[in-house]
Amino acid sequence: MSYSDEMKSVAKTMVEGSRGLLAADESSPTLTKRFDALGLESTYESRRNWRQMLFSTPGLATWISGVILFDETFRQESTSGVPFPQYLASLGILAGIKVDTGAKPMAGRPAETVTEGLDGLAPRVAEYRSLGATFAKWRAVIKIEEKTLPSRAAILANAHGLARYAKICQSEGIVPIVEPEVLMDGNHSIERSFTVTSEVLQSVFSELWLQEVALDQMVLKPSMVISGKGASNRASREEVANLSVECYRNHVPGSVAGIALLSGGQRDREATEHLAVMNRAKALPWPITFSYGRALQDAALESWATKKYDVEAAQGHLAERAAANHRAASGQD
Ligand code: G3H
Repeated sequence: MSYSDEMKSVAKTMVEGSRGLLAADESSPTLTKRFDALGLESTYESRRNWRQMLFSTPGLATWISGVILFDETFRQESTSGVPFPQYLASLGILAGIKVDTGAKPMAGRPAETVTEGLDGLAPRVAEYRSLGATFAKWRAVIKIEEKTLPSRAAILANAHGLARYAKICQSEGIVPIVEPEVLMDGNHSIERSFTVTSEVLQSVFSELWLQEVALDQMVLKPSMVISGKGASNRASREEVANLSVECYRNHVPGSVAGIALLSGGQRDREATEHLAVMNRAKALPWPITFSYGRALQDAALESWATKKYDVEAAQGHLAERAAANHRAASGQD
């Protein structure tokens, strides 16, 4: 099979059958912050134990097609000595890898960020592929501030980075997840989120076209069109779902393999409800599924802390959220 046939098949597998992705790719500093907030110790071992608990959840492959890993976990092994990419593969779950090196303050515009990591990306991706990765992720971050942000410069720089990354991944035989996240932080209206998300997606697809990225060999991971966290009169779940679908229909070509949404700090049930309403729309050109981090893991992490590393209890929470999102991806409540 050529790289492109293989990547088409991987991209389809990631989004089809109402299965979704588990984003367990928090960097060690980010996971440490989440552990600290619950009084959990963060070490190389404790992070491995947490991830092993997640991945060994009984039935996980029924709801989850792939797991996004951070470099540290990618190179770790299960307690039985199997490297995590192979451990996941043995369960019928694809292993993916976060390859960006983070959103860094933009020169001359310190309130905005540009995601870095293009230097040396091709050999890094080739190594991850040789170790079992079938897809990768790169997250660009766009901040809204009423009337002032985002700047056109930040949108274009981030869109360019996403497209360069996607082309490099495809040249090395790995499916890129293209993640332009418009943050929910702030008190902006849903209309403003619609305008900004539209401009961002339009710019991203224009750059992907310039770089000749094969759209049927990539997955888009966008944020939803949603009111800012601090907005008064936050939009209803129907408005969020309808405006999100309208925005994606306007700017995401039908040849894209699929859309796997991020949760972006929504409460876990809220993220599930939005996904369910979106999937009741008629004649969607692509599958819409989930690639949630916090919305899949929050309840499990809290239980991990309060019930002192009780594996079954924490796995029960992950299974419950993963199964609910699997149902939502087929339009059921
Ligand atoms: O890059 C962010 C993650 O992949 C998705 O995490 O669902 O908590 O926003 P989230």
